[in-house]
Amino acid sequence: MSRIFSGVQPSGDLHLGNYLGALKNWVRLQNDYECLYCVVDLHAVTVWQDPTELASSTREVAAGLIAAGLDPKSNIIFNQSQVSQHAELAWLFNCVARLGWLNRMTQFKEKAGKNSENASVGLYAYPNLMAADILLYKATHVPVGEDQKQHLELARDIAQKFNNDYAVDLFPLPEPLILGAATRVMSLKDGASKMSKSDPSENSRINMIDNADTIARKIRKAKTDPDSLPDTVAGLEGRPEAANLLNIFAALADAPIEDVVAAHAGKQFSEFKQTLSDLAVEVLAPVGVEMARLMEDAGYLDSVLADGADRARAIAQPNLEEVFKVMGFLNPRG
Ligand code: TRP
Repeated sequence: MSRIFSGVQPSGDLHLGNYLGALKNWVRLQNDYECLYCVVDLHAVTVWQDPTELASSTREVAAGLIAAGLDPKSNIIFNQSQVSQHAELAWLFNCVARLGWLNRMTQFKEKAGKNSENASVGLYAYPNLMAADILLYKATHVPVGEDQKQHLELARDIAQKFNNDYAVDLFPLPEPLILGAATRVMSLKDGASKMSKSDPSENSRINMIDNADTIARKIRKAKTDPDSLPDTVAGLEGRPEAANLLNIFAALADAPIEDVVAAHAGKQFSEFKQTLSDLAVEVLAPVGVEMARLMEDAGYLDSVLADGADRARAIAQPNLEEVFKVMGFLNPRG
């Protein structure tokens, strides 16, 4: 059986990059796979989180998942800290993974920066917790972006070493799931850098919660270059802003980039931006409205997360017990 697991950090604004690169594609999986989507609050606290904001960011991501079209009945949607088995398995994986493996993780180096002596131990061990997230459910497939591929590799290494050390075939080796054309949404202000919630300029990103006017304004203000649109995809070479806007259009329209380029060949940006803005508003504004509505209803969101956690625990606990048994932990109750 195929089982999908993915995690989203509860660290504020979900944006168009999250929507087109992840959430929108996950909606397509819900009928064919058993899917677990986890708001990874234990990962979030590897860097400082304001306690009053953590709960609201967790609800916000849950609202975003549901507003994007993930049905909380067909999918298991929950926050990580409610299912203590994640932390338990992560500890065991701290004892399986090797220092040398973690020393090679590029994301730690980026996030810790120059002052790595002062980074939390949790930030360093972050990939072990991510491996635990996935392997706790014996997930077979993990939809991940480019930036998480190395962590998924590590999860496979941990699974393999565990199976090997204990001479069992307990963990499947999780595969990355590449969904459609990899949509890499770039900043609206700089086509060379990824759209990001940490960019100080609000105009660099479209947030999932943005209303129609805000979406239209941000697209109007998006950076372009002086030329008209090219006739072919090859003509996008060296034109990162044009490439980004056309890619966004293609992803929103679910159309191949070649067709989108052909349909708008030779147009001025002003005209194209108007069409893009209409499409973006049509697709995204209803998602934003639904997300805002859900965020007003904390009771409902909490009930979804509680129900998801119950269903997640029901899978996690027997798997964790199997691991304990293999490792030889004494359990007098049996
Ligand atoms: N590390 C992922 C990110 O920052 C989030 C994550 C945590 C995750 N656990 C996961 C993704 C398990 C996939 C599977 O985006």
